[in-house]
Amino acid sequence: MAKLNVNGAVREHDAEPDTPLLWVLREQLGLTGSKYGCGVAQCGACTVHIDGTPVRSCVMPVSAVQPASKVVTIEGLSRDGSHPLQKAWLALDVPQCGYCQSGMIMAAAALLKAKPRPSDADIDEAMTNICRCGTYNRVRAAIKQAAGMPAARSASAHEVIHIERRTT
Ligand code: FES
Ligand code: FES
Repeated sequence: MAKLNVNGAVREHDAEPDTPLLWVLREQLGLTGSKYGCGVAQCGACTVHIDGTPVRSCVMPVSAVQPASKVVTIEGLSRDGSHPLQKAWLALDVPQCGYCQSGMIMAAAALLKAKPRPSDADIDEAMTNICRCGTYNRVRAAIKQAAGMPAARSASAHEVIHIERRTT
C-alpha cells in the first residue's frame, strides 16, 4: 500500500502509480469535493493544494506526490466551513450549480495565502478556473470580501462599465 498525507492524516491506497491523484482522492479516499471537469488541466474543478500550492489533480500522477507532501482538499480547508473564503462564498451566495466551486475556493485560498490583499490583476492571474454558470463576478467579490476589502472595489473596470451601461 502507498501512503498519502491528506488533510492532516496519513491515508493508504493501492492505486496504480500513474493514476491521477483526483481519482485516488475521490474513489479510494472518499473525498468527493474535488470534481472532474475536463481531465486535461484546463478547468480547475479538481484543484487541491500540495504543500500549499494549487495543483490540478486530474493530471497529477499519484506517484508524483511524495508521502511527506501535504495534500489539502476542500474537505480539509477548515474543520467546520469557517475559512474566510467559505464564509464569504455563503454570504454572497456565489455558487450556481456548484460544480466548479470547490476548485474555485481552493485556487482562491492559495491566492490569499500568497497575497492577502489581491488586486483585480492578481485575481485574474490566479483564478484561471472555468465556471460554466458564469459566477466570475461573485467569485471576485467573495475573494475581496474574504480579504477584508471593500466589495465595491470588487468589480473590474469592464464589469463597472457593463453595470453603468445597464443602469443608464
Ligand atoms: S478536471 Fe482537472 S483541470 Fe479540469
Ligand atoms: S457554479 Fe456551475 S460551473 Fe461554476
